[in-house]
Amino acid sequence: MRLLGFRCFVAVALLLGLLLNVPETCNGGKTSAFVRKDEKATDMPLDSDVFKVPSGYNAPQQVHITQGDLVGKAVIVSWVTQDETGSSVVRYWSEKSKEKKVAKGKYTMYRYFNYTSGFIHHCTIRDLEFNTKYYYEVGIGFTTRQFWFITPPEVGPDVPYTFGLIGDLGQSFDSNRTLTHYEMNPRKGQTVLFVGDLSYADNYPNHDNVRWDTWGRFTERSTAYQPWIWTAGNHEIDFAPEIGEKVPFKPYTHRYHVPYRASESTKPFWYSIKRASVHIIVLASYSAYGKYTPQYKWLEAELPKVNRTETPWLIVLLHSPWYNSYNYHYMEGESMRVMYEPWFVQYKVDVVFAGHVHAYERSERVSNVAYNIVNGQCTPVKDQSAPVYITIGDGGNLEGLATNMTEPQPAYSAFREASFGHAIFDVKNRTHAHYSWHRNQDEYSVEADSMWFFNRFWHPVDDSTSYPSK
Ligand SMILES: *[C@@H]1O[C@H](CO)[C@@H](O)[C@H](O)[C@H]1NC(C)=O
Ligand SMILES: *[C@@H]1O[C@H](CO)[C@@H](O)[C@H](O)[C@H]1NC(C)=O
Ligand SMILES: *[C@@H]1O[C@H](CO)[C@@H](O)[C@H](O)[C@H]1NC(C)=O
Ligand SMILES: *[C@@H]1O[C@H](CO)[C@@H](O)[C@H](O)[C@H]1NC(C)=O
Ligand SMILES: *[C@@H]1O[C@H](CO)[C@@H](O)[C@H](O)[C@H]1NC(C)=O
Ligand SMILES: [Fe+2]
Repeated sequence: MRLLGFRCFVAVALLLGLLLNVPETCNGGKTSAFVRKDEKATDMPLDSDVFKVPSGYNAPQQVHITQGDLVGKAVIVSWVTQDETGSSVVRYWSEKSKEKKVAKGKYTMYRYFNYTSGFIHHCTIRDLEFNTKYYYEVGIGFTTRQFWFITPPEVGPDVPYTFGLIGDLGQSFDSNRTLTHYEMNPRKGQTVLFVGDLSYADNYPNHDNVRWDTWGRFTERSTAYQPWIWTAGNHEIDFAPEIGEKVPFKPYTHRYHVPYRASESTKPFWYSIKRASVHIIVLASYSAYGKYTPQYKWLEAELPKVNRTETPWLIVLLHSPWYNSYNYHYMEGESMRVMYEPWFVQYKVDVVFAGHVHAYERSERVSNVAYNIVNGQCTPVKDQSAPVYITIGDGGNLEGLATNMTEPQPAYSAFREASFGHAIFDVKNRTHAHYSWHRNQDEYSVEADSMWFFNRFWHPVDDSTSYPSK
């Protein structure tokens, strides 16, 4: 019955001429025929400009920041010193007061096969004022370097805020193009939601962790100035018992800290934050998620806490997509979908961003929750309580693009294209958010795909035809 409704909808939309360029077969949405580069991406060599070690004795490098508490009044500052321990202190001051303050952090280090890390410092600065520019300095005692960030506005229902979306970045020439396009995008992302797979160091012999360091230096030009919200992907696991590395996520957890305790999580792989008008839930595709597991119990308790009066927008980040019509990582997200999709519909998640598949895809609002083993109802149906699923794993890592798609395009898939790029989710108020996808081949301001999101709690009107087809 509901499926019939969806077909009718497609037919009506076609009649109205709303969906241009739909293939004659009318199986699904649009598969873009854009001619993209179809060859392996190449990693930038070790002596590339983007990997340059900052000058000065024991100069801090790989500086990155992320949100440090539940609401955005704290920031975790992280950096690495190579020559000696140095100081874990951050000196910071607001543009308004200029009174300098200090916060003391801690350092850690780790060994991986025959690699020894530098001194990895993490320092949380707390009690910051909202909506304020802060300058900060690290490397005190030896070579100091100065950076800045802007805190988000206070959490509230109509606070506009702009998020960038990047996934599966790696450190190839294409990765550098993606980051440049994000930086140059006139829509100006204020925080990056990163959907997993950072450095791809594990593609090197013995997971050469030098490539974790180069990645940290490459991304510093963005990560030191605006928070990146981290999601763990499969390339963060670094589980290699054949070389004696039996602790999963060792490099990742030493290098990238997240404020998981603030949301009562027990592990850094799943957690939540509130930022401006958005409640963001980060899930772990590579930690246990079955019934009775810590992640399951956490999510079960977390979803009822989401207060749409305070944070109208509910965004979920995870690495392995649930709705993916490429012939790569096909159905890898299926078991997690089976566990959690009914909750996403019940709690009206606005959008789910995933990576993993090195391409771009956006779904209709669909759910597939009717199946109960005996009834045979296992087809995704249009569902206005369901999120839009977006795969944004097209950051440009060395593994290259996923170009092989399932044919015909399934009905739930609204748009798919195998090009490198990034996206922007631009929240305007409690009812409207403008979303756009930007491919690297285009000029900085070009939107290769876009959609006006209508909030599922405040304005649950069908938004599938609100975007112009491109
Ligand atoms: C680690 O081992 C590899 C392979 O044996 C070798 O090529 C590399 O130089 C070693 N690195 C260090 C830091 O010892
Ligand atoms: C990376 O991009 C930046 C900014 O566009 C540019 O200055 C730099 O030369 C690029 N580096 C490489 C190795 O492509
Ligand atoms: C939800 O947030 C609003 C606005 O901040 C607040 O007035 C209300 O008490 C909250 N509801 C619950 C159940 O906490
Ligand atoms: C695309 O993937 C399908 C399914 O895995 C496979 O049968 C087919 O050979 C692939 N096509 C190409 C051109 O690689
Ligand atoms: C919310 O933002 C949209 C898009 O900018 C705008 O059309 C709408 O009027 C806004 N709503 C309110 C209540 O301001
Ligand atoms: Fe992945």
